[in-house]
Amino acid sequence: MLVDNQHYRTIWPDTSGGVPSVKIIDQTRLPHEFKVETITSLEQMVVAIKTMQVRGAPLIGAAAAYGMALALLNAADDAYLHISAERLIASRPTAVNLRWAVERMLLRLLALPEQARRQAAWDEAALICEDDVLLNQAIGTHGLQLIERMQAEKCRTLNILTHCNAGWLATVDVGTALAPVYAAHDAGIDVHIWVDETRPRNQGASLTAWELAQHGVPYTVISDNAGGHLMQQGQVDMVVVGADRVTSAGDVCNKIGTYLKALAAFDSAAFGHWVPFYAAVPSPTIDWNVSDGVKAIEIEERHADEMAWMSGRLASGEVARVNILPQGANVANPAFDVTPARLVTGIITEQGVFAPDQLHMMQRTHF
Ligand code: MRU
Repeated sequence: MLVDNQHYRTIWPDTSGGVPSVKIIDQTRLPHEFKVETITSLEQMVVAIKTMQVRGAPLIGAAAAYGMALALLNAADDAYLHISAERLIASRPTAVNLRWAVERMLLRLLALPEQARRQAAWDEAALICEDDVLLNQAIGTHGLQLIERMQAEKCRTLNILTHCNAGWLATVDVGTALAPVYAAHDAGIDVHIWVDETRPRNQGASLTAWELAQHGVPYTVISDNAGGHLMQQGQVDMVVVGADRVTSAGDVCNKIGTYLKALAAFDSAAFGHWVPFYAAVPSPTIDWNVSDGVKAIEIEERHADEMAWMSGRLASGEVARVNILPQGANVANPAFDVTPARLVTGIITEQGVFAPDQLHMMQRTHF
């Protein structure tokens, strides 16, 4: 996607120097600063994932794949590969893409003699990135058809609400939830996006708003608590979110607060304007081993500092962090929640749009 009219992906290998490294866009600095960082080791990649310099389910999968390639700069034996894989998998537990990407790397590498593994790791990580872009483009095509049908029916600006950031910054490129939005905007359809700010880390306000602006898509940032009111008032036509994991039964695990949006979308029917709720996901986000998401998905508990500290630009222009809690306040910070399938209208995938109870019709091409 474009940053100041220059095309970027969120992650790419750099082989220009003697030792290969990986470039990432540091998302902790956006929207105030666009900074590309260089990652040279497995350890640095683990830190980048944990501190959310890279984030979003598909992107942390791609980052973990390159983490494996960086690990192989140290050693290429089976034991070291397994240790590196475990370190990466433990870095963030909820998004299944991370485990999926690491297991895909292991499957490819362990089948090879040690001396062939180094180059194969860079090749496989690059393939994972290419696949991600293709899957997201296909999600955009299928989601666009939904939007086109809605546009033909309503013949006015379509208001789409999204939560967190499931745009190109959360993937290698294109995005998941925002892929249909970009496709619709590029096709000349009048779309306007309600962007949930997404406390505590404000991925909506900081990242989604920033990337929509870069692409010229009209948007309005709202507080996390405003979505229910807007839906009740008929000001939302559709909710589209990404996901960190979708179960075989169609439960959608995504950024904390998604469940409340799905409840409000469902209840808006009582006020005469039901709002469809879609999750847009590539197949590596589907965990075929889990059915009941509420019971089985481990929800990442993040540090209290994310609740206590907010960063922003001061009137002086300086970017600073401020503490917003009373000293010693108790804090709970679960990072994700699970929206049960009964509240989900459809799952937009690269293979088409599926009702949650029809997800089993998908071809399992990615494991
Ligand atoms: O904690 P984050 O910012 O990694 O959470 C990201 C989300 O919840 C996204 O909605 C999800 O990963 C889908 S990304 C295409």
